[in-house]
Amino acid sequence: MSSLTPIRFADYDPKALSGMTGRVAVLVTPEGSMDQAARTANRLSKGAIARLIESDGFKKVKSGQVVSITWPAGMQAEALDVLVLSRKLTPVEARKAGAKLASVAAGKPLTVMVGNMNKAADLTLGIALRGYEFESHKTATDEAPRAEVTIASKVPSDLEATCAPLLAVAEGVHMTRDLVNEPANVLTTTEFARRIDEMKAIGLEVEILEEADLEKLGMRTLLSVGQGSDSPSKVAVMQWNGGAKDAAPLALVGKGVVFDTGGISLKPAGGMEDMTMDMGGAGVVAGTMKALALRKAKANVVGLVGLVENMPSGNAIRPGDVVKSMKGDTVEIINTDAEGRLVLCDVLWYAQERFKPAAVIDLATLTGAIIIGLGHENAGVFSNDDALCNAFLKSANAEGEGAWRMPLGKAYDDQLKSRIADMKNVGGRPAGSITAAQFLQRFIQDGVPWIHLDIAGVASVKSDTDFAPKGATGWGVMALNRLVSDKFEAE
Ligand code: BES
Ligand code: MN
Ligand code: ZN
Repeated sequence: MSSLTPIRFADYDPKALSGMTGRVAVLVTPEGSMDQAARTANRLSKGAIARLIESDGFKKVKSGQVVSITWPAGMQAEALDVLVLSRKLTPVEARKAGAKLASVAAGKPLTVMVGNMNKAADLTLGIALRGYEFESHKTATDEAPRAEVTIASKVPSDLEATCAPLLAVAEGVHMTRDLVNEPANVLTTTEFARRIDEMKAIGLEVEILEEADLEKLGMRTLLSVGQGSDSPSKVAVMQWNGGAKDAAPLALVGKGVVFDTGGISLKPAGGMEDMTMDMGGAGVVAGTMKALALRKAKANVVGLVGLVENMPSGNAIRPGDVVKSMKGDTVEIINTDAEGRLVLCDVLWYAQERFKPAAVIDLATLTGAIIIGLGHENAGVFSNDDALCNAFLKSANAEGEGAWRMPLGKAYDDQLKSRIADMKNVGGRPAGSITAAQFLQRFIQDGVPWIHLDIAGVASVKSDTDFAPKGATGWGVMALNRLVSDKFEAE
């Protein structure tokens, strides 16, 4: 498993620049003004930074870009990374700049001369977020493990304290990415539960409900999805009680289909390997719980994930079968590939019955249709509560995580009518993501504020993003963490 790049906070001492090894980053504004360390580096390198600033090319360099001067004269460093950065920055801009430095450094030792810049903490978070590689299945890599990053600040201990909760969130993001990147022969339902169970060590209360427990609770729709697999179905419950003793918790519910073949409604072969990421919702829930525990959030949050594998076999659920949910409603299975909603509906019901939550947010790689609608830029946001929904959209925006609200309505819900049962599990091709959300809403109790996040397009992507190499993004951990701190945390 990958761990966070080690980050050290040191005193800002431009005089030490000449002897620094590895890569050294200094700050210059787009207008060409150098800070103290940049001036020192410029002097040591016999005016290299000044020549860069005077060059024609510099006019095209925008805030947030890095220009590398390799093997600079007068310095021991192997590269002088000139980070061009405006003095006024949003937190997301500062993070992107840090991420740029980390991607240029590619795991090599790096010292960043932040001095007294404001947003140094966000810059550091960006370095931590982008300093990620999923390499646990590469043998014989000749590359050294990720080297230390040194943040040289005029107030290193203050900065370290400010960064601590941010780096806790980065650890949560990395956990989510590890889970989403992991292949399904490694991340079985049992292994997923084990990794969640390990979080007892950081203070989470964890329970794993096994098939016999789920049977007793009546979670037949969830169990029907897993019944074709040799991996046992499970529900993991993670509790973080950092808030007031009697405050109703926020419930986070995640779809954890460790592999989705489609079941008897088998998916085509092309691209089926991507369905290792179909536990992305559960991955975000686990990563968020980790972040909250590591930063000791003053809130009550419970995370519940349904862990199943959707396989075709002699025991698998068939199209046409009717199953009864924990709520008591019956579902006609038209398509065994619409399995995520069958998992979520039982976990959602259980979450509300047991915890009487103040609000429920579910996350799922639920539909291919949301990718057709929103691509890989935005998750689909569905909600029955404008205040909660707007608060979430605000959090997502502040963290640079794309999120776009989609509609709900009775006409969509009517598409789920079944001839023989209370509902069908699919509503036909039109508005596929919305009818999936309508299905879930049937399992939300009156008066419970609820958001459904369809993250099929954003959980894992085929090209690098600002904060992650291609593959799992960890989308949602930062937005949910911020929502908790803005709306659910006591002073
Ligand atoms: N896990 C898939 C959705 C998905 C597709 C996630 C692509 C990530 C990338 C989900 O279980 C599924 O198969 N949905 C079907 C629903 C349909 C049968 C109504 C789909 O989207 O085709
Ligand atoms: Mn499916
Ligand atoms: Zn699925």
